[in-house]
Amino acid sequence: MVVKGTALYPGTFDPVTLGHVDIIERASKLFESLVVAVADNREKQPLFSVDERIAMIEKSIGGIKDIRVTSFEGLTAKFALSIKAVAIIRGLRAVSDFEFEFQMALMNRKIEPTVETVYLMPTDKYSYISSSLVKDIAKRGGEVECFVPYVVRDELRKRFLS
Ligand code: COA
Repeated sequence: MVVKGTALYPGTFDPVTLGHVDIIERASKLFESLVVAVADNREKQPLFSVDERIAMIEKSIGGIKDIRVTSFEGLTAKFALSIKAVAIIRGLRAVSDFEFEFQMALMNRKIEPTVETVYLMPTDKYSYISSSLVKDIAKRGGEVECFVPYVVRDELRKRFLS
């Protein structure tokens, strides 16, 4: 069964990983359409600009239909309402993600009660990946291609090895 309407998958995606791509694939099968939105989260001091992060996501999901990749500033719940999203998608990798995600879901519900948060579990082989760890490995010259799409591996090499 496909849920009618659009789902929003927000994140910093600095950079997108195979774990994020796995969630995007799962969400796109569940909902009629999906908006993947890069948060302009300057507090996190991202390595890649918003446009670079969008381009990497677009190249990583080339073959998947009915997905739009964009960016947003401000509150996720308000952005969800502005695009008429019926759900916010988040990935849950492990119990350690739960507390923060639970808090965020309830805060988002308080801000915008009409938008539900839906959690999806990535495949277990990606459940330990995080963007910060990938960047750390790449910075120290390690191989990251089992964690990120090829386009992201190439961008990380350009950043750290040139
Ligand atoms: N696979 C791999 N990694 C994953 C993952 C998955 N399926 N799901 C989460 N992660 C990792 C990311 O790699 C990232 O790792 P890092 O911290 O080492 O960089 C971390 O988990 C979380 O990243 P991400 O999923 O990109 O989201 P985020 O937590 O950075 O972004 C927002 C959260 C954008 C949704 C949140 O900050 C937000 O809503 N901001 C807007 C302002 C707002 O509305 N604030 C009120 C919120 S209640």
